[in-house]
Amino acid sequence: MNKKITIAIDGFSSTGKSTLAKQLANHLGYVYVDTGAMYRAVAFFAMQQGYINADFFDKESLINSLLNIKLQFKFNADLGFAEMYLNNLNVETEIRTIEVSRFVSKVAEVSEVRAKLVEQQKEMGKDKAIVMDGRDIGTVVFPDAELKIFMTSSATTRAQRRYDELVAKGDDVSFEEVLKNVEERDYIDTHREDSPLIMADDAIEIDNSHLDRKEQFELVLELVNDTIKSA
Ligand code: DC
Repeated sequence: MNKKITIAIDGFSSTGKSTLAKQLANHLGYVYVDTGAMYRAVAFFAMQQGYINADFFDKESLINSLLNIKLQFKFNADLGFAEMYLNNLNVETEIRTIEVSRFVSKVAEVSEVRAKLVEQQKEMGKDKAIVMDGRDIGTVVFPDAELKIFMTSSATTRAQRRYDELVAKGDDVSFEEVLKNVEERDYIDTHREDSPLIMADDAIEIDNSHLDRKEQFELVLELVNDTIKSA
């Protein structure tokens, strides 16, 4: 029987990490965990409680409420992936808005938030056979992962992908607004004090600016198969 491994996928926002991670998990029969969804759900909670808006962020109240935040993934067989639940409510749609994208990096900077989510992520991966994507998976959550992928592509390419997704969902956004959000998040994600987005020394970098989904999947699948063979 094939050995089960842990696959960590990190990289900038909108590099297609989750598309790749889902493809791999489905192909391998592994669990897929989108850690960005967890940070988004906490940001959505903070918005609902009035702890964060464009002008202010009441970090203390968020930290004091962390025990009241229950995050779960529940597999939706029709969609083929697990949806995010916040305190027993499906928030998969709510967490994907540009509003949440605006505040999520601020929330993800809070060490107490990170500690809570990282603990839950480590627990989910204790039996391996998992593909997890995020910003700190190869560096903090699973430093011993057998395969680490770091995905990049230009900010304009990523903003265009994000813009197309949002417009297809009916969101009223401009390309400039999306590009600005992508650039701001890149900055915050790479400059925060706790667990900034950096490539792990043993990660393999994939720039997918000129790769389509199929080419990218085939490239990474080869890496996965080689890793499983030598694990
Ligand atoms: O992957 P995403 O765009 O859905 O992630 C949302 C935000 O959450 C992103 O701006 C950075 C943060 N994040 C993080 O800090 N650490 C992770 N492991 C995953 C996401």
